[in-house]
Amino acid sequence: MNKFRLSMISAAVSVVVACSAAAQQKTIEDGVYTTEQAEAGQPLFEQRCSACHNADFYRGTLSNRNNQPLAYLFEEILVTMPADMPGSLMDAEYEAILAHILQLTGYPAGDAPLDYASGTMHTVNIVPPKD
Ligand code: HEC
Repeated sequence: MNKFRLSMISAAVSVVVACSAAAQQKTIEDGVYTTEQAEAGQPLFEQRCSACHNADFYRGTLSNRNNQPLAYLFEEILVTMPADMPGSLMDAEYEAILAHILQLTGYPAGDAPLDYASGTMHTVNIVPPKD
């Protein structure tokens, strides 16, 4: 096999890999946080968020953001919330709070925690809550 054919094959392989990566887009129904993470987020959520929003508010937010990457919602929260002290928490604390919000609104937990720095939140889309 000559070098040209080899590189054609490897180009074809990378197209297939890229396509299957796109097909692997997850949603928040696929278990994108862990139970431990959601539990860690609960006290923070209660101290820093629940004075202004209840679970219904988050259900509305998730419905409005149908099909958007979860990273967009995370970034919005990171930059604007809590409204009385935006950006005052650590990234890991915002991740735990978002995990708690997903648990509270009825989405299942999974094996891996939410991790903004890894970029995976960009590959997870929001779908509306079931009820
Ligand atoms: C002092 C009151 C207050 C606190 C505390 C607060 N928020 Fe908010 N939040 C607001 C207001 C005001 C808005 C914008 C108006 C609205 O949509 O109700 C908002 C909007 C939001 C939205 C909608 C964003 C969007 O664009 O869809 C989310 C999600 C949210 N807050 C999450 C949080 C989280 C998570 C916390 C805790 C870290 C928090 N909020 C703490 C007042 C607050």
